[in-house]
Amino acid sequence: MTCNILVAFYSRSGSVESLAQAIGEGAESAGAKVRLRRARELVGEDVMALAPGWSEAAARMNAAYEAPTATDAEWADGILVGSPTRFGGASSELRAWLEGLGAVWFQNKLVDKAGGAFTSTSTTHGGAETTVLSLYPTLAHLGLVIVPNGYGAPLSRVAGTPYGSSSVSAGPERRAPTEQDLEIARAQGRRLAEVAGALRALREARS
Ligand SMILES: Cc1cc2nc3c(=O)[nH]c(=O)nc-3n(C[C@H](O)[C@H](O)[C@H](O)COP(=O)(O)O)c2cc1C
Repeated sequence: MTCNILVAFYSRSGSVESLAQAIGEGAESAGAKVRLRRARELVGEDVMALAPGWSEAAARMNAAYEAPTATDAEWADGILVGSPTRFGGASSELRAWLEGLGAVWFQNKLVDKAGGAFTSTSTTHGGAETTVLSLYPTLAHLGLVIVPNGYGAPLSRVAGTPYGSSSVSAGPERRAPTEQDLEIARAQGRRLAEVAGALRALREARS
């Protein structure tokens, strides 16, 4: 069954954005309609000026993507949330959007939709799993059926995590997600869309 997929992410320098795009491609390959949305900055210009390129990347992405809204979440049959790892957890920018979903949570509007998460770290053991897992409780509170990546995709033993897609960006210059990282992300998008479509059929059969 066709379904709607929301990919809501925060990205400061583009790694999570690349994963979000690949997830969107994967969901579209399963027949889904996709909305890519970028959460907005919560820090001031002083912080954005700390690293070369942050302000420019934010301006570029803000021109390319609308900010996520609660209406996007209601529209979606499946929601994927992505964030750079921040001290082992998710960014406050993504979390601020999630915390704005109180009204839809209160009305049970997201119950029995599909949910998943993804991240990018700078170092291999910098907290990809903890970040994705830190988002799981919020997805559960919202009533989403959490869809992990598992090890079903062909490249799942060489990239990503069993919980959600990931990439590692540290290097002499920022390292973009590899083709293997992106393939895992596409697989996550496809899987999430397939499950979201099945859950939509279930919800419609009940009503
Ligand atoms: C405040 C802050 C905290 C961070 N904490 C971590 C961390 O705990 N572990 C890690 O590996 N990288 C950490 N990073 C690096 C980012 O997670 C990493 O560069 C990521 O690839 C950025 O994704 P983006 O390009 O989508 O912004 C941190 C970066 C910032 C600015």
